[in-house]
Amino acid sequence: MNIPSIENCDFQGKTVLLRVDFNVPIKNGKVHDNTRILRTLPTIQHLINASAKVIIISHLGHPKTKDSSLSLRNIVETLSQLLKKEVKFIDTCIGQRVQRAINAMSRGDVMLLENLRFYKGEEQNDLNFAKQLASLADIYVNDAFSCSHRAHASISCITKFLPSYAGFCLQNELKHLEKVILFDAKPITAIVGGAKISTKIKMLIKLAEKVNYLILGGAITNNFLLFNGVSVGKSFFQNNVNDLLRDVVETANKNNCKIIMPEDVLVAVNSDYSTGILRKTESILDNDVILDIGPQTLSTISSVIASSKTLLWNGPIGVFEYSAFANGTIGVMKVVSSLTRKGKLISVVGGGDSLSAINAAGLTDKDFTYVSTGGGAFLNWLSDDEMPGVAALRLALD
Ligand code: 3PG
Repeated sequence: MNIPSIENCDFQGKTVLLRVDFNVPIKNGKVHDNTRILRTLPTIQHLINASAKVIIISHLGHPKTKDSSLSLRNIVETLSQLLKKEVKFIDTCIGQRVQRAINAMSRGDVMLLENLRFYKGEEQNDLNFAKQLASLADIYVNDAFSCSHRAHASISCITKFLPSYAGFCLQNELKHLEKVILFDAKPITAIVGGAKISTKIKMLIKLAEKVNYLILGGAITNNFLLFNGVSVGKSFFQNNVNDLLRDVVETANKNNCKIIMPEDVLVAVNSDYSTGILRKTESILDNDVILDIGPQTLSTISSVIASSKTLLWNGPIGVFEYSAFANGTIGVMKVVSSLTRKGKLISVVGGGDSLSAINAAGLTDKDFTYVSTGGGAFLNWLSDDEMPGVAALRLALD
């Protein structure tokens, strides 16, 4: 793997800045799905056992201001419970107040800092912000595979200032994904759904070069429907991406990759999310909001998956958080897990919302060949571009 591992580092008495991905769903101030937190526990525990002062940093959501619903304070209770240990919290990331709080810590203590994205410098990969963060610690550890596709200050630039290592979660993700992809069993199907269109569209081009079937779900589908001249009513879509979509379609055609689009959908009307109304895709009305696939599409997708040997899945198919629109995501998940359990399918599922959907379907990690914490990161990894976070660690080795 050729990145420096925390296994080979002496943390005794050191202050360690640990970048994790605690970008987890929060409902009413409580963690709604703790999978990403669970995956970082081995690294946190390793640092505690090694008598380090553990300073944890993460982003949460896309804050435009210092929004308390996106404060990392919301994570403290869950993290303390899981570690069976008090976790201190400070509502800032840089400056003298943090430094004083760190000075007051004992070896083996854990402190969580505030949401990194409350500071503009984070997403700008700003050298000064990275330097200020780095000044808090002796060593930097990246255990955030799922955001290592972002060239942000706490992931990329920071390795210029501190000895830098990969945590166990990051290493495990890379090891498992490499193993699964080596199987290369064809036909390969990819499902790309979810709400974050902008990051994913570019990666679809790379996927279309590699896979035999590309199944579209979530908000990306609306853009493809529009591109094909189909009305999507009031459904969410992204502007100015037609050139990218054209590239995806041309790449798919050139590489014999079949793009699977919905034949029928469930829509909500007038913000009533309690009932899904079934429509043929070509008959969507002006007030409709597409929130799930219909039964005919579920059946088509199930047949495609049944004829595949490998499935790569990022992002839910519908808005499964509303029970009236959960059938597409949960129905496909059950098909995938059943084929995986019978040994007929290699399945890799990734992404924060996908992890929540697995829980909502009453399934676990064991129902799939591998479950990755990464969504955009997982797609990025599949597209062969080295992730900035991993590249930064590799450079730190030189
Ligand atoms: C994710 O949820 O995929 C990661 O935390 C990255 O989040 P981002 O897409 O907001 O950068």
